[in-house]
Amino acid sequence: MKTKKYSAVITAVGMYVPDKVLDNAYFESTMDTTEEWITTRTGIKERRILENGATSDLATKATEDLLQQHNVNPEEIDVIIIATVTPDMLFPATACLVQERIGANNAWGFDLSAACSGFLFAYQTGCAFIESGQYKKVLVIGADKMSSILDYSDRNSCILFGDGAAAVLLEQSEDLNLGLQNSTLRIDGVGKDKLLMSGGGSLNPPTHETVDKKMHYLYQDGKAVFKVAVIGMADVSYELMQKNNLTSDDIAFLVPHQANKRIIDATGKRMGLDSDKVMMNIDKYGNTTAATIPLCLVEYYRDGRIKKGDKLILSAFGAGYTWGSSYLVWAI
Ligand code: UT7
Repeated sequence: MKTKKYSAVITAVGMYVPDKVLDNAYFESTMDTTEEWITTRTGIKERRILENGATSDLATKATEDLLQQHNVNPEEIDVIIIATVTPDMLFPATACLVQERIGANNAWGFDLSAACSGFLFAYQTGCAFIESGQYKKVLVIGADKMSSILDYSDRNSCILFGDGAAAVLLEQSEDLNLGLQNSTLRIDGVGKDKLLMSGGGSLNPPTHETVDKKMHYLYQDGKAVFKVAVIGMADVSYELMQKNNLTSDDIAFLVPHQANKRIIDATGKRMGLDSDKVMMNIDKYGNTTAATIPLCLVEYYRDGRIKKGDKLILSAFGAGYTWGSSYLVWAI
């Protein structure tokens, strides 16, 4: 096996969530639900909604935050990868729109579609570009405007999601003990009918009928996804710990995709982690799809809860199915 020369480390972070808050009381006042049901079944208390604008606006603002906070010159960025299932348009890629807005004049890039596992898959891809030695600065963004594909009369789904974006910058480090150490990532199309937006692609191009049948909205069989997510996320995270000889004492934080507090709690429990070692902000933002994991990383880093050398396990499960776990050592 070829030994790698460089490790890929996160050297800068940024985030953006819109100002408008939709709390559970709003849903209680508009549909057959209660604040209590939403809080106890999901852990969500409120979520952010972008009223005007698109996913590229969320992604651009998160990136501008990163560039300003860490004094990064956008012209030095080599690659931009945006994980999203709510691109501004099917094409051109949202990466092109963000590239132009931030002035990353020497970059190439693309969008990556892996739903709630999008950030994890984009992070792995970006790390491979860095580890190969081919690129020095890779921007990985998780961004979704979920409100653009929600049916606000469907109580099963609309209460779950929110809008947001967060970004990380990957760079080379010669200290191989920092940065991404190991991952297990998986897909299985057996889940294709359980969580999807069936209209608008080449299978069901837009027609009056697709609109009437609400095929341009997200559909989820929540119970079916819950059952596999709770097992999938816990198993893959636990197996990654074992593969890397990590005990629960070694791990500073589990950084789980924020879909449902009950799934997060089950994963932390399987890994033997106390709840204070499990990152959580689902109460404030709900499920922002590709943005959940980087939003957690940015918030916990900025308030001083993660420090250099901390061992983190990122973990996600989502539509596809897509799922996986990555083990990294924080480098800043
Ligand atoms: O991020 C991508 C992956 N996605 C996930 O991981 C999400 C996985 N699924 C879930 O998080 C949960 O399944 C939900 C939060 C979506 C639903 O929770 P649940 O405990 O699985 O509820 P359920 O679907 O079994 O529904 C129980 C009852 C049903 O009523 P009946 O059929 O028992 O009469 C639902 O109609 O709760 C009802 N229900 C609601 N009641 C009040 C569903 N949504 C609501 C609601 N308010 N908003």
